[in-house]
Amino acid sequence: MASTSGQKPIGVALLGGGRIGSVHLKSLSSSRNYELLYTVDVDEARACEMASSVQGCKGIGSVDVALADDRVEAIVVCTPTATHKPIILKACEAKKHVFCEKPVSMQWQAIVECFDAAEKAGIKLYCGYQRRADNSFRKLKETVAAGSVGTVHVIKSTSRDHPTPSLHFLRISGGFYHDCASHDIDLCCWVAGEAPATVFALGSCFNPEIAELDDVDTALIALKFPSGVLATIDISRKAVYGYDQRLEVHGDAGMVQTENRPTTSCVISTAAGIAADNPYFSFPQRYEQAYATEIEHFYDYLRNDATPYCSRVDCIRVAQIADAAEHSARAGAPVDFAQFISQ
Ligand SMILES: NC(=O)c1ccc[n+]([C@@H]2O[C@H](COP(=O)([O-])OP(=O)(O)OC[C@H]3O[C@@H](n4cnc5c(N)ncnc54)[C@H](O)[C@@H]3O)[C@@H](O)[C@H]2O)c1
Repeated sequence: MASTSGQKPIGVALLGGGRIGSVHLKSLSSSRNYELLYTVDVDEARACEMASSVQGCKGIGSVDVALADDRVEAIVVCTPTATHKPIILKACEAKKHVFCEKPVSMQWQAIVECFDAAEKAGIKLYCGYQRRADNSFRKLKETVAAGSVGTVHVIKSTSRDHPTPSLHFLRISGGFYHDCASHDIDLCCWVAGEAPATVFALGSCFNPEIAELDDVDTALIALKFPSGVLATIDISRKAVYGYDQRLEVHGDAGMVQTENRPTTSCVISTAAGIAADNPYFSFPQRYEQAYATEIEHFYDYLRNDATPYCSRVDCIRVAQIADAAEHSARAGAPVDFAQFISQ
């Protein structure tokens, strides 16, 4: 079947059949713009299980077979963060475009290497910070850009995870600031339209198993931008009431907020009180629309040269700010961002 634009669908291989790989499997296999040719996982049985739901798709244990196949134009990387760079460099050699789950790497220098290699190879590398594709956040961003709330004074991002990821994932996650806070850091910079001048973070750990990993599960991050805009990020690995994701921008002419969405809009009012449903269970449910949209946006980027929602500069900057936040929290002092990244 032809794609939505009448062009050839993109032959694609999906790498990694874990939490986010399962989400992208749904988007890729239901889109007219892609032909999912391979699912790849080091756990080959998992790869085969994923492929079994898609006609013409083969489950394999190594990406090499997919990279050697001329029908494959692009790969979608959903493997653990530490594996991204070697996979991207292999894809560059094989001249395959890459959609990579966030973050491209925990080290910003490695992100630079990946984008440099992609540019040299003439392939496109896109990183999936899916919140930029979420309809509510996009409307908030457009509202701010249109001046409807006036001059922005404060951006407030609240992000509390549900359920807490497994210890197995947390061990290889890259740490709280790069894995979790990177989404909120990206959102704040996207809305502010600039990089911060100052980064100040405080971190705590309430979960003893996470503390053993020398990581934190709760943080407050403050950013001050050169324009004077202040941003606060209130972030936690644990919310017992569901996946809590809220964003607010306050300006001198008003305020714009995106609230949590409950699983139903039913509100029950009785003498005992008012009861509503909890927010969505977790990220696959809350960002279902955003994940599908970003996969279609990747098609548009490859076929129609659309401006990527998230650029090379955005990806590098997020990693640098995550580094600065971690450094600030450990040192207990604010970080001058320009000075920090020039060291
Ligand atoms: N955008 C988002 O909202 C979001 C959400 C979750 C995870 N992520 C990102 O996605 C990536 C994966 O996270 P996850 O939670 O899905 O992890 P996961 O542990 O649930 O799944 C990873 C899968 O990759 C497989 N794998 C490991 N190494 C491989 C390799 N070299 N080749 C092929 N398969 C390999 C594993 O067997 C596993 O099935 C991480 O970079 C994470 O930061 C993004």
